[in-house]
Amino acid sequence: MSTSDLSVKVGELTFANPIMPASGTFSEDLSDVFDLDVLGAHVLKTIMHGKRAGNPTPRVCDLQGGMLNAIGIPSKGIDDFRDRMLPYWSDYKAPLVVSISAHSMDEFARLAAEVSLPGVAAIEANISCPNIEADGNAFAMRPDTTAEVMRRLRAETDLPLWAKLTPNTGEPVAVALAAEAEGADAIVTANTALGMSIDVRTRQPRLGNVMGGMSGPAVKPIALRMTYQCAHACRVPVIGCGGIATLDDVLEFLIAGAAAVQVGTATFQSPTVMARLIAELSDWMQAQGVTSLGEIIGSVQIPGGEAA
Ligand SMILES: Cc1cc2nc3c(=O)[nH]c(=O)nc-3n(C[C@H](O)[C@H](O)[C@H](O)COP(=O)(O)O)c2cc1C
Repeated sequence: MSTSDLSVKVGELTFANPIMPASGTFSEDLSDVFDLDVLGAHVLKTIMHGKRAGNPTPRVCDLQGGMLNAIGIPSKGIDDFRDRMLPYWSDYKAPLVVSISAHSMDEFARLAAEVSLPGVAAIEANISCPNIEADGNAFAMRPDTTAEVMRRLRAETDLPLWAKLTPNTGEPVAVALAAEAEGADAIVTANTALGMSIDVRTRQPRLGNVMGGMSGPAVKPIALRMTYQCAHACRVPVIGCGGIATLDDVLEFLIAGAAAVQVGTATFQSPTVMARLIAELSDWMQAQGVTSLGEIIGSVQIPGGEAA
């Protein structure tokens, strides 16, 4: 029986398979439980320029169908990335994707230049964080602020540049098109959805930060819808992210048009889930006689034509 080819192309990059971690849910400790080189790529937790403490505790809470987090991007800063993290991750074969963020355009642009180092395959711009120059709204809430920040980042790096969108915007397609127009090489759909939970006994919010980002199976339909919308509107590839935990979830995103997928919250429940998904995808392709994922990606069948 011929072996299936799990490789996918995301712009100019080729990944051995479409499974990669979602930023902030992946760390060195996972190497204790599986070979991290089986992954299509490694995506690191968002780094910011300087050292930063995170948000007040509690920073996470369980929800039906997922979790809420308000970690707040604690960061050891660019020096720790360059001196410790980059040498560590460069020992792996899997391409390294570095997630960056900042609260101002200037700092974002400076960081893009500083992380553009040998050993970095791509930069994922986490533009879903608050921009102090836009009243604290995330850059990716609006096409104009997305365009401006992506233009600044594009000017600072020749590396493939991905834009990670927020599900909190009401206009994801316009935001994705703005990112593409300013040079994004891929769109990632998406980050967490803003949510809240209250402990009825104490009547206090269950997160120290009051509100936080919702992730896990409950957000999957939203992320899938955004992936479908953006894959149909954009020329650049889209990477799906949100609630992926099973092989069927992976297939749903690929069929909707994702060129690759990221797995986040599911890793907290089952640390080896990504390795399992890759093996299951390979077995499924063999069983179905699918030789290349190009046969699956974007193969959604909309009865009566394309949905608006
Ligand atoms: C604990 C936690 C920390 C996260 N940290 C980051 C981060 O640093 N940068 C980022 O872009 N997204 C971050 N995310 C969002 C995830 O990368 C992902 O977009 C989101 O959780 C949806 O995927 P999932 O449902 O598979 O978790 C974080 C999510 C969680 C649960």
